[in-house]
Amino acid sequence: MTPTTLDAPAAKPLLDWYDRHHRDLPWRVSPPMAARGIKVDPYHVWLSEVMLQQTTVPAVKPYFANFLARWPTVRDLADAPSEDVMAAWAGLGYYARARNLKKCAEAVARHHEGVFPNTEEGLKSLPGIGDYTAAAVAAIAFDRPAVVMDGNVERVISRLYAIATPLPNAKPLMKQKVALLTPKDRPGDFAQAMMDLGATICTPKRPACSLCPLRKSCEALRLHDPEHFPIKAAKKEKPIRQGAAFIAVTADGDILLRRRIESGLLGGMTEVPTTNWTARQDGETSAAAAPFSARWERCGTVTHVFTHFELRLSIYRVAVPSRIQIDNAWWEAVTNLDSQALPTVMKKAITAAIPLAFKRAKD
Ligand code: ADE
Repeated sequence: MTPTTLDAPAAKPLLDWYDRHHRDLPWRVSPPMAARGIKVDPYHVWLSEVMLQQTTVPAVKPYFANFLARWPTVRDLADAPSEDVMAAWAGLGYYARARNLKKCAEAVARHHEGVFPNTEEGLKSLPGIGDYTAAAVAAIAFDRPAVVMDGNVERVISRLYAIATPLPNAKPLMKQKVALLTPKDRPGDFAQAMMDLGATICTPKRPACSLCPLRKSCEALRLHDPEHFPIKAAKKEKPIRQGAAFIAVTADGDILLRRRIESGLLGGMTEVPTTNWTARQDGETSAAAAPFSARWERCGTVTHVFTHFELRLSIYRVAVPSRIQIDNAWWEAVTNLDSQALPTVMKKAITAAIPLAFKRAKD
């Protein structure tokens, strides 16, 4: 038996399942809440969607709560100092998102009277809003029939149609299929239902097909091989870059920090002094590149995986009696590190030199 081509009415079992099994998420107005007349706040939807890109739901939850507590409206975020926003984002990764978040909030506050545009096109005209975010906000906040494709949705749709083309080339076909399935009624819930199905039932390994509301239409299940999909093109090995990071601490417990330049990787974030990170195997990993000459002591290597390369940082530390004046750098109490915009790689580097740096800051 070949399944018939699915179209919008096939979304009905999915929406029925969503009514009963949706995840309760802090940025979401669930069907029972909607029934009580609660309206979703586009600011919450936009903020969560930006945070959720490349980041898991459990990782996002505390950041989302903290942002809303500090900046309850998009105007508040627009008025916040950039350094505060970067510091609040520290640890979430992909820091260009935080820079764009601030720019987008400013645009909404200054040019749209604090109100998000309610169409995909209007949303895309804002800084930092690309195809995915525009579609997600248009669907979830404004119930537009936009095609929302994230990793979960790609997995669901690739299995439903047993799509043989490998990702990423399969994306246009996947979008077409999702567009075909998207109903005119409740397209926002449909988009969220697809995400929830992918996150809870149509999982990468051992999907719970017997519980799936779409099992009767699923081509991959008919072929007895859901885990085979989505097919992915072979990944290229990540290149390795190397460098050194220097942790200088005074007798009073102050550490030397700098601010990275605004553009590029980790732009605008705080760092300990480091060399350039290069593909070369020499030079940049030695103490000779330190911000001042001293008896730098090697104390390990830290590895951090970025999207396009793996970084290996040689870590050096030195204890100095008191603060030394260094251009474009400042001394910060180690007990105050939690308030700094330190990305995870820098926290790892500091922890290699001062194992209790972050635990102590919390005490
Ligand atoms: N991942 C990306 N957007 C999401 C959303 N709105 N709900 C749950 N998971 C998501």
